[in-house]
Amino acid sequence: MSGAPERVGVIGGGRMGAGIALVFARAGSEVTVVERDHAAAESARERLGDGIAKAAARDGSDDLSGVAARLAVSTDYEHLAASGLVIEAVPEILDMKIEALIRAERVLADSAWIATNTSSLPVTQLAERLQRPERFCGLHFFNPVPPSALVEIVLTALASDDIHTAAAGWVEALGKTAIVVNDAPGFASSRLGNAIALEAMRMVEEGVASPTDIDTAMVLGYRHATGPLRTSDLVGLDVRLNICEFLHETLGDRFAPPQILRDKVAAGELGRKSGQGFFSYP
Ligand SMILES: NC(=O)c1ccc[n+]([C@@H]2O[C@H](COP(=O)([O-])OP(=O)(O)OC[C@H]3O[C@@H](n4cnc5c(N)ncnc54)[C@H](O)[C@@H]3O)[C@@H](O)[C@H]2O)c1
Repeated sequence: MSGAPERVGVIGGGRMGAGIALVFARAGSEVTVVERDHAAAESARERLGDGIAKAAARDGSDDLSGVAARLAVSTDYEHLAASGLVIEAVPEILDMKIEALIRAERVLADSAWIATNTSSLPVTQLAERLQRPERFCGLHFFNPVPPSALVEIVLTALASDDIHTAAAGWVEALGKTAIVVNDAPGFASSRLGNAIALEAMRMVEEGVASPTDIDTAMVLGYRHATGPLRTSDLVGLDVRLNICEFLHETLGDRFAPPQILRDKVAAGELGRKSGQGFFSYP
């Protein structure tokens, strides 16, 4: 199978789910977003509307004709039943994801594929709770979804051989680039992104150079679009700390959180969202 599936379901219409729904609708799929209650469904509708408006401003509105008509929001998991692919994008809480995935699998045809957009939970642990783990993989989209070029396809040992081809076809239909990663903590992107960010923080701690100069080293020396410290401020230092603690537990001491990161989070310096991180955002 290749190309965008005819019908796609998305569980959770938050930041990521709405973005994922939008890109599939733009690729021609009929998309149903399932939310937990009516208030959340209304917020998801607004998010989708905003997403369409943003896309129109960026790309012109011609290309978007019909997209809104291909997007539906519901609170009923039964409305996922006709989907060829369902992508789960509920909050990053293991039990919440397991429950959502089991509910979806119950209504889907045996031939349907299911994916999770988890950014850090072990995909294998989710797969093990499903009746058809061979039809399940990770599809790790990036935020914001529409302009982000990368999707990580995360494969478990339980996945069927053809899921890789199917997933690569979906990502290609979205105009994005896929990389394939075997399920491992932090996949490829978070593991590498955190490795470099944590080393940059240790360099600040040791007084090797200023945050500005450390970032400039990577931007001008290695052509990174943004330096590791400014990127960390954007991600949120509390989010960085959480991921880093998880990688420390699973991959060992090389991911031990630097003291400067702990101190900043304790002081409420969470990066851009709080106005102060490694840089100031007045
Ligand atoms: N935000 C990011 O930068 C980012 C990037 C990559 C991956 N992710 C991952 O994507 C997932 C979603 O993150 P987000 O930032 O979109 O979160 P979010 O909080 O913005 O959205 C989650 C949505 O799920 C809904 N929801 C909760 N329980 C539900 C249920 N039982 N059934 C249906 N819907 C339910 C909520 O109402 C909410 O709209 C997480 O696993 C996160 O780790 C996030």
